[in-house]
Amino acid sequence: MNIILLGPPGAGKGTQSHRLVAERDMIQLSTGDMLRAARSSGTAMGKRVAAVMDAGNLVTDEIVIGLIDEQLSNPALDGKGFIFDGFPRTLAQADALGALLDSKGLKLHHVIEMRVDDDALVARITGRFTCSNCGAVYHDETKPTKKHNVCDNCGAVEQFTRRKDDNEDSLRTRLLAYYRDTSPLIGYYYAKGLLDRVDGLGSIDAVAGEIDEILTR
Ligand code: AP5
Repeated sequence: MNIILLGPPGAGKGTQSHRLVAERDMIQLSTGDMLRAARSSGTAMGKRVAAVMDAGNLVTDEIVIGLIDEQLSNPALDGKGFIFDGFPRTLAQADALGALLDSKGLKLHHVIEMRVDDDALVARITGRFTCSNCGAVYHDETKPTKKHNVCDNCGAVEQFTRRKDDNEDSLRTRLLAYYRDTSPLIGYYYAKGLLDRVDGLGSIDAVAGEIDEILTR
């Protein structure tokens, strides 16, 4: 099964993707994570996109479509279900994803829109921290680690980082990009009969339950 998690920054796409990977053995394809990896390994592309990402703007369609194409062409991932997290984000990306899936004989099963209001997003983004060892995502208030400074998932000690674009200025730009470039995808996938919605304001478990209900329908 191949699905898209669609929602504004901080909607919980990454959090729910990690759970689906663990519980359903799916593959998370997060263009944000791929770009951050390119950036920290110092590739030419990573250096090019760093300032764009920090400011909260979108990286070019060409770059992100290339990243997804590379993953979908990886024979090691044949037969796995994909979670597209943070991709597509523009109509051009959505068309390109459709063409890529067609060319590989794959199809899209669900597009799940995660709805969260803007006030909640600010609190989520400014409280987020991530384990740099395993990528587990936490929050100062809604999802703290069980033991202070120790990752619940991998046990790494004092390995937490906060993203450079997780500040109110970048968030404003990211939200603008979401409403301007990405929200038209809601109508695009609705017209294709693929759209489902969940209330992203619920607890992490409640959102997970709504997603499971859609995937097992
Ligand atoms: P990306 O990494 O995709 O960031 P984003 O879309 O802004 O989404 P986030 O990762 O910020 O949020 P999320 O929805 O995953 O929330 P999370 O689960 O972490 O993109 C970053 C940048 O890369 C872009 O700005 C752009 O520059 C570039 N880029 C990436 N893809 C691109 C593309 N396709 N095209 C062009 N450019 C692209 O949760 C957030 C916090 O809330 C966490 O602390 C979590 O613990 C907490 N939380 C989650 N769920 C709940 C809940 N239900 N209740 C309470 N707290 C919760």
